[in-house]
Amino acid sequence: MSRKILLLPGDGIGPEIVAEAVKVIEALKARHGLDVETDEAPIGGAGYDAAGHPLPEATLAKAREADAVLLGAVGGPQYDKLPRELRPERGLLGIRKSMGLFANLRPALLYPELAEASTLKREVVEGLDIMIVRELTGGIYFGEPRGIREREDGQREGFNTLVYSESEIERIARVAFDTAMKRGKRLCSVDKANVLEVSELWREVVERVGRDYPEVELSHMYVDNAAMQLVRAPKQFDVMVTTNMFGDILSDAASMLTGSIGMLPSASLNADGQGMYEPIHGSAPDIAGRGVANPLATILSVSMLLRHSLGEAALADRVDAAVGQVLRQGLRTADLAAAGAPAVSTREMGDAVVAAL
Ligand code: NAI
Ligand code: MG
Repeated sequence: MSRKILLLPGDGIGPEIVAEAVKVIEALKARHGLDVETDEAPIGGAGYDAAGHPLPEATLAKAREADAVLLGAVGGPQYDKLPRELRPERGLLGIRKSMGLFANLRPALLYPELAEASTLKREVVEGLDIMIVRELTGGIYFGEPRGIREREDGQREGFNTLVYSESEIERIARVAFDTAMKRGKRLCSVDKANVLEVSELWREVVERVGRDYPEVELSHMYVDNAAMQLVRAPKQFDVMVTTNMFGDILSDAASMLTGSIGMLPSASLNADGQGMYEPIHGSAPDIAGRGVANPLATILSVSMLLRHSLGEAALADRVDAAVGQVLRQGLRTADLAAAGAPAVSTREMGDAVVAAL
């Protein structure tokens, strides 16, 4: 029985970059024995346009049935005036929560050909290969109660709740240790245990889970130090695991070490091994429709999809190698090209990856 990939192109550059990723999938089907079927559905602004909602019910139903989901990006200025619950971004949060995608894997990997594109010195970033495992459906972004209330003295105060249960910590810790086992067997858990009770429990549970992984070298670091170390000496890290908000911030910082936002894929996984895969960037309305967006983050998201949801590690390696090859050939989309240097289009980049496969 062939497996199903649901495509959610979304808005802005989403459809342009997903089209190139589809070329890669089709080439793997035609030439390398990949057995998958693809289907497509609207999400974000496209969902609102088609069905009056950023996450149409039919889209969510298809996503639940699929073995994996590949998303482009959502959002655009034409939707900014909509009420909050109809905004495109709500479609994305909604699908993450509804599918229970609690584990967000964000690799920060520097392709050697792009060392010049990083804002840090070559010797600091050359060889960089970090995997950040971020908890995605809990913590302060979802905790209750939350709100803005009036105090007795008449001042208003805003409040959010940071809460993690043992089982939430345990399942993300397992993903992190499993990830470390497949890589350099070093895991750094990032918290704020000197101040937060939640972190105290976090450390305790991570330590406990770690007893099942005696081969993994576990360390702990406070989040403020981790932010500093990521910029000072990022190559000291292999796998990092942390809460939703710390992970949000640290992974954005880590991603910029690698050059362009157009290079970085991500995976969001649930307990059933289902996953949603997407570039970390947004819909880039400033360049949408011009055929200049970098499709590599989306193509690398296909690689993560093959590896994590379809168990096709060899094909994933093949995609990664093809991306390395086109970079070695000197192909650059505008975001990667040096000032004044010639750049290839979105489509030319996709075609080159297919040829390199
Ligand atoms: P953005 O990531 O869309 O763009 C930031 C900058 O990076 C822009 O200058 C853009 O042209 C450039 N860029 C992004 N991806 C690129 C690519 N593949 N190739 C070349 N250049 C690229 O973030 P921004 O501008 O803050 O948000 C734009 C819209 O996207 C908003 O509506 C926002 O809510 C949404 N958004 C959606 C996300 C998602 O769908 N996962 C994530 C982040 C933002
Ligand atoms: Mg973020």
